[in-house]
Amino acid sequence: MSEAPSTLTRLAHRLAEDVARGTPQQGTPAQLDVQRYLDPRRLEAELALMRRGPVILAHASELPRSGRLAVQRLGLPLLLSRDAQGAVYGHYNVCRHRGMRLVEPGAAECRSFVCPYHGWTYALDGRLTGLLHRETFDRLPLGLRPFPLVERHGLLWGWPALEGREPPQDPQQWLGGIGAELDYFGLTQAAVFRRTEVERRCNWKLVVEAFLEGYHIRVLHRDSIYPFFLDAATISEPVGPHFRSAAARRRLSGLAPGTIPDLRLDCTFTHYLFPNSVLIFHPDYTSLITLWPLAPDRVLWSHALLVPAPSLTEDTREHSDRSFELIERNVFQNEDLVACEGIQAGLASGANVSLSCGSLEGALGQLHAEWDRRLSEGVTS
Ligand code: FES
Ligand SMILES: [Fe+2]
Repeated sequence: MSEAPSTLTRLAHRLAEDVARGTPQQGTPAQLDVQRYLDPRRLEAELALMRRGPVILAHASELPRSGRLAVQRLGLPLLLSRDAQGAVYGHYNVCRHRGMRLVEPGAAECRSFVCPYHGWTYALDGRLTGLLHRETFDRLPLGLRPFPLVERHGLLWGWPALEGREPPQDPQQWLGGIGAELDYFGLTQAAVFRRTEVERRCNWKLVVEAFLEGYHIRVLHRDSIYPFFLDAATISEPVGPHFRSAAARRRLSGLAPGTIPDLRLDCTFTHYLFPNSVLIFHPDYTSLITLWPLAPDRVLWSHALLVPAPSLTEDTREHSDRSFELIERNVFQNEDLVACEGIQAGLASGANVSLSCGSLEGALGQLHAEWDRRLSEGVTS
């Protein structure tokens, strides 16, 4: 493995010092207005911002060479494709003739797209390459409606609201130092072991918040992951609009002073990537979580478990099965998401006008301040 980026080792060191001193990081307490989670106009503005991108649409291993991946994201039917040379393309999954959906959701190998209605045919790069009775049309489109899509750090980044192929920026720039960290954690060499998608009844931001503070681990996760973690020992810092954070595992408290902590065994890094993704670097696998808002009180939870690609053998499959069961079902579905739904159920009651965040939850106030700033910059489409 390559040398760890100093951005990670520095944060792990600070966390180890905090643990040794017994003083967890303190942030600024905040009050969060409940309308943030209820207002449909706010959700529309958030969706508009997300559609402008960049958003993580898939892990690179989910898009076959000479093939496609069709997904419904942010209310848009999107079609990702990869040609035989490995180049990737983003288009709307909508026929240019009379608007039929071109392909069913999911991944498949293919050489072209043939519309099931009248048979218009498109190449993987979106060009219209064939149609019956061409002479009966006075005007023909050049091809499918494109949006910018690029592959970086093992992920597919899209700007769905933009028309054309040219991305407005490189994800590496967008991520600040985090791009090198994703490389260090091996995302480019990883493969998706399994992905779960499930609709849950809560605002998407409540789910992000659950990954931005460690205050709840001792109680909510008492019987699942708390045995592996120290109480209230997390550290986080903003990186542009994103967050880099680390939670102390119990092993960290036994570390000799001055020793460099193991970045996966002594602590667990969790990165929030603006606007709607969370990456968690567990000891031997990675969770890639993307949250797709459907309504103020509904979200599509999408969780891909990434494992090092060469380790996908029969022997490791059983281990990965157990890991997925523990983290996806026992922890995320039955604990974190149940809590988020429990909050959402009470939001409209008027019991709380605002929600209180203490100094152990300092990242939440920062997260909302960043969203407020970006929304006020005036996104209208
Ligand atoms: S709608 Fe696609 S070929 Fe007619
Ligand atoms: Fe949690």
